[in-house]
Amino acid sequence: MSKGKPRVLATRHFPPDVEARLAANFDAQLNPEDRLYDGPALTKAAAGFDAIMCAAGDALNAGTIAALPDSVRMIATFSVGYEHVDVAAAAKRNIAVSNTPDVLTDATADITLLCLLGAARRAHEGATMLRTHNWVGWTPTQLMGTHVTGKRLGILGMGRIGQATADRARAFRMQIHYSNRSRLAHDLEKGAVFHANPDDMLPHCDFLSINAPMTPATAKWVNAERIAKLPKGAIVVNTARGGVVDDEALIAALKSGHLASAGLDVFDGEPRIHQGYYDLENAFLLPHMGSATVETRNAMGFKALDNLEAFLLRGQSPPDLVKAS
Ligand code: DGY
Repeated sequence: MSKGKPRVLATRHFPPDVEARLAANFDAQLNPEDRLYDGPALTKAAAGFDAIMCAAGDALNAGTIAALPDSVRMIATFSVGYEHVDVAAAAKRNIAVSNTPDVLTDATADITLLCLLGAARRAHEGATMLRTHNWVGWTPTQLMGTHVTGKRLGILGMGRIGQATADRARAFRMQIHYSNRSRLAHDLEKGAVFHANPDDMLPHCDFLSINAPMTPATAKWVNAERIAKLPKGAIVVNTARGGVVDDEALIAALKSGHLASAGLDVFDGEPRIHQGYYDLENAFLLPHMGSATVETRNAMGFKALDNLEAFLLRGQSPPDLVKAS
């Protein structure tokens, strides 16, 4: 431990290049075994540290933050989403919070298209058929899915990832509808149809992609009432946060056939996801892989470090400071 450097507690095992820079620039406590800290363990472990480098899923709720030792001046999350950090509670303790916007936009938009295509083209059923030696060969009626090209895609949340998703979907000549807190400028809209009220968008969605953050306003937003407004045979994709979906309602619609399928990369309560998903053939499921490329995870880590270095080494405001809303 090199004396004099600010002390940073890493709650997770981060990519090697990220940990190398963390260890070079700070007196860092790494977590090579990737042991999960619950709130009490985190407050205990943080004693004497200047900052915590955390990640999605860490329990930095109001209770944990209130109990953090006075030494902690910053929380840098290795994620763009920061619903796991109570920013208002941190502000009360004068603890700066930063996140990692921009760098995972493309990777997450890529996985959104993977989920959309995987759900539409029954990728889970096809892959399972092959790997379980149940493929009898090509047949004219085998695993017929939903055509994607030319269909309507509704995007809830037209921020960076929503826009990058729309750009990719345009390559499939999809017609883009969107709902967002504010309408995009004309040059960013690129012909997409804006719906001020997201409920009004639902009847126009052959596909619905959730790209909105988890907030009190979006919690369980995809519920039975809204699913009923989607056309029969629609497909729901979620690569944002699982809590935006009411699992019971989605599973019921996938069972009844009102929805053709779903492509999901995120789940409420992950990794202990709703048991009902495991039994559904028409659910294409991934384990929260949206940002999981070497390039993206390094970029996220370096961004978290840029923020820590600005604040702890240079006394500046972190470039990606998150403000309490
Ligand atoms: C994010 O950065 O929010 C990704 O979902 C990974 O947690």
